[in-house]
Amino acid sequence: MSQTSLTPQSKLPALGTTIFSQMSALAQQHNAINLSQGFPDFDGPDYLKARLAHHVSAGANQYAPMTGVQPLREAIAAKTAALYGHQPDSNSEITVTAGATEALFAAITALVRPGDEVICFDPSYDSYAPAVTLAGGIMRRVTLQPPGFHVDWSAFAALLSPRTRLVILNTPHNPSATVWQKSDFESLWQAIRGQEIYVLSDEVYEHICFAEAGHASVLAHAPLRERAIAVSSFGKTYHMTGWKVGYCIAPPALSAEVRKVHQYLTFAVNTPAQLALADMLNAEPEHYRELPQFYRARRDRFIQALEKSRLKVLPCEGTYFLLADYSAVSDLDDVAFCHWLTKEVGVAAIPLSVFCAGPFPYKLIRLCFAKQEATLDAAAERLCQL
Ligand SMILES: Cc1ncc(COP(=O)(O)O)c(C=O)c1O
Repeated sequence: MSQTSLTPQSKLPALGTTIFSQMSALAQQHNAINLSQGFPDFDGPDYLKARLAHHVSAGANQYAPMTGVQPLREAIAAKTAALYGHQPDSNSEITVTAGATEALFAAITALVRPGDEVICFDPSYDSYAPAVTLAGGIMRRVTLQPPGFHVDWSAFAALLSPRTRLVILNTPHNPSATVWQKSDFESLWQAIRGQEIYVLSDEVYEHICFAEAGHASVLAHAPLRERAIAVSSFGKTYHMTGWKVGYCIAPPALSAEVRKVHQYLTFAVNTPAQLALADMLNAEPEHYRELPQFYRARRDRFIQALEKSRLKVLPCEGTYFLLADYSAVSDLDDVAFCHWLTKEVGVAAIPLSVFCAGPFPYKLIRLCFAKQEATLDAAAERLCQL
């Protein structure tokens, strides 16, 4: 048989390397300060690291239960009850996943059938659409307009159809740094209540919320949570994005379907990290309670340092991202501007249009402030020279 190389017909032909990897590579190449990809340049809590070492040494190195280790599911249940007034059942409603990414993929795969329509809000996180496409679903997008990025509920209603199966939302929102109010969840409920439409609520930044009213979770809305999958990530909360441990909370029937996918996607998440996270949740709850102050200080320092620049910073109510309008600085489109900024000014950022399927003709970039103060100061100094 002759040697022939085969090229599969791509199921995701339009997809290349993500902008996050591209910009991080460019930042490295040009020795730029990397405020593009969303990860901290500082380490997580010592206690958490010590507990991981402990559990590895103690021999907790075999498969965890498919749904997650019991102490972690119980700690998540208790935390959820304290924060959102709803205690999910640790056995039937909580599933520990390989980061939020796996929870999102498993939920979409479990719920979306060929031809189903899925509504999301653009700009949107980049993992949703490929998962919907692979499931045979069709994306329908409501575009949020800066600076407020508020949902236009009449535009949302206009997208609903008998084929609508799922709504995907994200609050606090990456990349706009805005948050949903309780009233948004009520509007969503009023719009979908009569139909069999599920809700996937990406709340990975639940503990990085600066809004006075705090984080509004889908889990706090009683009728909506009966049809919702809420997703969170320990990577964001404990500055450990590389651990890739997250979880989802959903009513038993929904969890059962998500678990059917999770079972054959990863089966189970690494055991010692789960046990360490359970210890951390129980022993140091102040860590996540104090996270808003921790990030608020960084946000305010960075905003203050940028006051002398020609960038116009947009309000930031949550996440560790800040949007900046550069229209006073350049006429370049946002992708070209970010390349120029990395190469010529030495600061890497993410162009906002990459989070949108349709045209998004604004001059906005996203800057990550999950960085040490010295990193933020150095980046601001360069940005002030623009
Ligand atoms: C909105 C949003 N959802 C999900 C994720 C993925 O989280 P994880 O790293 O836990 O998979 C991220 C990570 O940047 C994110 O910003």
